Amino acid sequence: MCGIIGFSGYERATDVLLSGLSALEYRGYDSAGISCFTKDAKITTIKSVGKVSELKALVPGELKSDCGIGHTRWATHGGVSRTNAHPHSCGNVTLIHNGIIENYLALRDTLAAGGRTPVSDTDSEIAAMLIDSLYTGDAAAALAAAVAHLEGAYAFCVLFSDQPGKIYCIRKGSPLVACQTEMGSIIASDMVALLRYSKDYFVLEENLIACLTRDEITLTTLDGTPVTPDYLTVTWDVSSAQKNGFKHYMEKEIHEQPDALSRTIMPRLVRYSENGTFYMLPDFTADGIPDSVFLGLSRIIITACGTAMHAGMMGKLLFEELLRIPVTVDIASEFRYQNPILDENTLVITVSQSGETADTLAALRLARKKGARTLSIVNVKGSSIARESGHVFYTHAGPEIAVASTKAYTAQLAAFYLIVFRAAYAAGQLSIAECAKYTEQLAAIIPSIQQVLEQKDEFTKISRHLTKANDLFFIGRGMDYALSCEGSIKLKEISYIHSEAYAAGELKHGTLSLITSEVPVIALATQHDVLPKMVSNIKEVRARGAFVILVAAADAMIEEELYDFRINLPQISDRFAPFAAAVVLQMIAYNTSYLRGLDVDQPRHLAKSVTVE
Ligand code: M6R
Repeated sequence: MCGIIGFSGYERATDVLLSGLSALEYRGYDSAGISCFTKDAKITTIKSVGKVSELKALVPGELKSDCGIGHTRWATHGGVSRTNAHPHSCGNVTLIHNGIIENYLALRDTLAAGGRTPVSDTDSEIAAMLIDSLYTGDAAAALAAAVAHLEGAYAFCVLFSDQPGKIYCIRKGSPLVACQTEMGSIIASDMVALLRYSKDYFVLEENLIACLTRDEITLTTLDGTPVTPDYLTVTWDVSSAQKNGFKHYMEKEIHEQPDALSRTIMPRLVRYSENGTFYMLPDFTADGIPDSVFLGLSRIIITACGTAMHAGMMGKLLFEELLRIPVTVDIASEFRYQNPILDENTLVITVSQSGETADTLAALRLARKKGARTLSIVNVKGSSIARESGHVFYTHAGPEIAVASTKAYTAQLAAFYLIVFRAAYAAGQLSIAECAKYTEQLAAIIPSIQQVLEQKDEFTKISRHLTKANDLFFIGRGMDYALSCEGSIKLKEISYIHSEAYAAGELKHGTLSLITSEVPVIALATQHDVLPKMVSNIKEVRARGAFVILVAAADAMIEEELYDFRINLPQISDRFAPFAAAVVLQMIAYNTSYLRGLDVDQPRHLAKSVTVE
């Protein structure tokens, strides 16, 4: 978590830093700060509690600088206060940090013995003290020596007071990307802060030291050997990271789903022929994912966090139905400490929008260490998970800025559908004609999402009712249960209404006691094979007075007295209903948060990219 940016160049550094911090604010937004070399080669630091807009108000227009660093914080060690906000300084060192220094207490005691006393509660200030204690004029040597003492994750950008115009950076775990432009050198946690200056960037590899000056970025290993970076290019432009007329990023990203899905699906459809007939099948040759990844498997493990894990729950159902191989879905933070049984016939699939989630990255590393095959479904190009995975399937959903994941989720679903269809075809479980038929049905969900979005007024009516709720349940069976989990997290994280997702058949084993007329139930009934069972479960909650919002297949026969609101999905076969139903749940969550007057894009206590454990 936390967004960091550094700039050395020919422009006003404060402008570059503050606009970069605004772009990175989704990574953390409880306090912010900048430190800049001023014209007299001194370092000025300005910090504030609150959002970047509050910091901006404190930065004087006359502050002239061409080199500085900036930080937007998501508190881990130490509460939200100006003192705990970054940058932190000690002696010659002023730094910003993203990550967690796990052994900071031991380091603090050692450094205290040398006469250095921290003023904040942060682990980051201890890192500043450590680097300063090792600095004798050679910045790279001090950083190399410091990291030998550090345990945990870090991305540092460091100013040394006697080296104006230079920023030194190093990272482990937490991301840093950089670019060189005519206006200077820039480094940041995420490409979205660089987009307005360049589409070409490189990922700073772990344990390399970068030195930014206005004219160049030099990279060296810890022992001083020069390294040349590998540049990547993004296809996004600046507008893809802006609101473009929508009130919130979340609203914009929900509406971008037809395009995002099109980018995930369409480039992977390739024409095959058999016995003179042509078929469009998913093909991952261009992704460098051979069919052999899916052959000879004894099991599949899907591991991820939050919404990405919910996409994995859908993946499990699809794999087991069509590939007929056992699949488990594990929360990455659990998987990584479970000593799982893995071998070369196990495929571990990690899923991550950011590609930087610490637990998912650790799960991937564990899978690789234990000899499993690895495939990652990732949105951000060049991210740590993408770079470390045996194979990568990029979702190409475009930048997702809102903390609540929407288009990344449906793109992850689409990735699973494509992967399962291809794997089942490659393994002989699907004929070419079946695979082509399912693939065609998948492509057909793209226009159906637009149809869902047209029911805007209905979502507002439902949300108006939900704004008063304190508790709420999502119920469903099979795919609808997997989707309930996603609907519930979406509503919770941005509306602050407590909700739970329940397998509809399980309610009566205890939880039904919580259902009253004060507790709305969102019932998903998109799967015809379990429709009669689902109707029984809706009757159970209705009999306890629940206010029921039904999301159902248009042709599902359900008595009107069983629900208060009904949203019908466009005509799509059951297997593909989760796409349309997901958009319904996203819109309900979005409108509920908005009508409650909350910060939709930056909900309290959260951050977009969770790079700490
Ligand atoms: O970047 P990732 O997909 O790895 O992130 C995983 C979760 O942190 C993320 O999906 C989170 O649950 C979302 N905020 C939910 O909307």
